[in-house]
Amino acid sequence: MAQSRTAIVILGASGDLAKRKLIPALETLYAQNKIDDTNVIIGSGRSEFSDEDFRGLFEVCEGFAKLLHYHTGLDGMKEYIKSQGDFDRIVFFFSLPPRVYADTARELVAQGFGEESSIIIEKPFGHDYPSSVDLNKEITKYFGEHQIYRIDHYLGKETVQNMMVFRFANSIFEPIWNSRYIESIQISAFETIGTEGRAQYFDNAGIIRDMAQNHLMQLLCLVTMEPPITLEADDVRLAKTNVLRTLTIEECHRWQYEGYRNEEGVAPESETETYAELRMRVNNYRWNRVPIFMRTGKYMPRKGTEIGIQFRKLPRLLFNDMGDLAANKIVIRIQPDEGIFIDMQNKVPGTDQTLQQTHMKYTYRDAFENEEIPEAYQRLLLDVLRGDQTLFVSGQETEMSWKLFSGFLDTGEVSIYRRGKVPQSRFAVDWIDFDDY
Ligand code: BG6
Repeated sequence: MAQSRTAIVILGASGDLAKRKLIPALETLYAQNKIDDTNVIIGSGRSEFSDEDFRGLFEVCEGFAKLLHYHTGLDGMKEYIKSQGDFDRIVFFFSLPPRVYADTARELVAQGFGEESSIIIEKPFGHDYPSSVDLNKEITKYFGEHQIYRIDHYLGKETVQNMMVFRFANSIFEPIWNSRYIESIQISAFETIGTEGRAQYFDNAGIIRDMAQNHLMQLLCLVTMEPPITLEADDVRLAKTNVLRTLTIEECHRWQYEGYRNEEGVAPESETETYAELRMRVNNYRWNRVPIFMRTGKYMPRKGTEIGIQFRKLPRLLFNDMGDLAANKIVIRIQPDEGIFIDMQNKVPGTDQTLQQTHMKYTYRDAFENEEIPEAYQRLLLDVLRGDQTLFVSGQETEMSWKLFSGFLDTGEVSIYRRGKVPQSRFAVDWIDFDDY
């Protein structure tokens, strides 16, 4: 898609997100000639800065710094952008608290911004199903769905994008990607950190809202969806919403790490979960009978996000006459050390007939030694500039996902677990030991 002349406006530009993610990502795009001096980057916020002061907030190269400008507030923004040149597109990044999204959208329209503009917003897109419907209703009063880019940074991760390539650009997986061969799907996202200065936000959310409802549901959709008709955004979104239409959450269990309630910002009686596991099912022809397990938590013994595909056991014949041969597995490691592993039986060299399951490893680092894995925001911001919504979440997806979680938010007993220890699963499932890969 052709890139038009675009002005990028960061609202809330003196905040942490701009400093940590947006400006570095834009600077990298500049270094790769994907943005240049035909673009302008305008920071905005309530504070007053001169262009020089604003540039001084970031450690960036001189050429890129020249693209940075600052305008206080939204009043007169339209004229200010015009004074910087002629732009056919204006992209507003809302680096703002979600509670002001709707008011900000209204204000932009009041300032005369219209069809030429797009807005980028970050999660949380609501707190539950009704609030997500309200938020979408409010925002779409001012901007059409084709102008709204909802970021789920997991979709910007290289391995997540590779999931579609892996499934649909290789002929060997699709024939076995169904309930006939697959016994279960296991999605796991562990972090070694706790709430890291965000306790107040987190205590209102919990790990189900923070990780499962958005990031992990996106992974689930990509791994289970039917091949989209084309790779266009609308078709990919349709394939994902078809998964959400047929998905049910069957069980959910919640835990909280020891000492959480003593943290600053956390309510002393807090029942917020910091670890959760869920069992779900996609009730369609392909996935009939296949349970999907999901677990995610803070203060885990290791950091890692993986998707495990557990294949069914062989019949009790030949090498498996005792029924003890481990079945095949595919592990897709989203992070760190991105890669894909296939577990296969092999004969141990020697005169004995001994079999052993070994990992066939494919890692990005080995396969593409000279390529750098881009940071999620680089790809996502570039896609906004290109007008490509494929890696962004539609309003319908957010609402459908929240709807599925209705009845599982803030409910049920919360058990305590020790930091650095994975709670004992309540499900009768052999969790794949992702530590091994
Ligand atoms: C964010 C959550 O969306 O994702 C954080 O709010 C979490 O709590 C983070 O730590 C995890 O992202 P990543 O890219 O480190 O897996």
